[in-house]
Amino acid sequence: MTNLPRAAVIGNPISHSLSPKLHSYWLNRYGLDGEYTAIKVTEDALESTLRDLPKQGFIGANVTIPHKVSVMQFADQITDRATLIGAANTLIFKEDGRIFADNTDGYGFMANLRQSAPDWDPKAGPAAIFGAGGAARAIIVALADAGVPEIIISNRTRPKAEALRADFGARVTVMDWVQADKMLEDANTVINTTSLGMVGGQEFKVSLDSLRPEAVVTDIVYNPLRTPFLEAAQEKGCTTVDGLGMLLHQGVPGFERWFGQRPEVDEATRRAVLE
Ligand code: ATR
Repeated sequence: MTNLPRAAVIGNPISHSLSPKLHSYWLNRYGLDGEYTAIKVTEDALESTLRDLPKQGFIGANVTIPHKVSVMQFADQITDRATLIGAANTLIFKEDGRIFADNTDGYGFMANLRQSAPDWDPKAGPAAIFGAGGAARAIIVALADAGVPEIIISNRTRPKAEALRADFGARVTVMDWVQADKMLEDANTVINTTSLGMVGGQEFKVSLDSLRPEAVVTDIVYNPLRTPFLEAAQEKGCTTVDGLGMLLHQGVPGFERWFGQRPEVDEATRRAVLE
């Protein structure tokens, strides 16, 4: 056992995760003692792993697919935003083994847009969201917090979008997937939270013809960095923001809590994780 402060990302599969590169880069950049690794954890082993990690000197963890929801039942203290989202991605282990759970995905989303599209005003008009999974939930909470006047969601499986409306109230409206392009007509912010466009996956086929050039458009898919969805939006004259920044920024609060230094997200950080 090492005395270095240790953190990890837990999930399954985990080999694709960029978090070890990100946190190791920051540790190195700031000359901090610490270690950050990836640990593959199956659903069956989740509770025992969470009980065990603090005993092994871990001070916290990031949580990724498929554990973001199930990890909540083992937390002793949960932030309001994680409760509202119903999922956690950042854990802090207290000295007595108690677990504090937070969700920084919405923070990462907002920080990415604010950094990459500084003129973006969330209050200026409706937001249109493709998809209704876990990422969409975190983004809806963040947008509502930022004062977006209306949030329109379209999802292939409509009941999942309806469930978000039931959870998040009157500001949220639902558009049928076959009419998804219609939600773009007045949209000021447009977000793809589906996995469409990811390398090796299915294409994003919804027409972006109705996009206004004033809209800020972002994708949570970051492999490839420039998705066909972002390329099409750019052709319409929109400001586009890729999804890598959301991943990098969501790591900031955890790193700061564990290692005592607020890390920078900049071009050098992007290069380090893309290497
Ligand atoms: P995450 O937690 O990252 O958001 P998720 O919960 O699996 O991941 O959500 C994936 C999203 O991509 C969902 O909105 C999903 O739509 P369904 O709810 O209908 O499954 C969407 N998605 C995945 N494949 C899709 C496809 N071929 N066409 C349209 N939407 C798709």
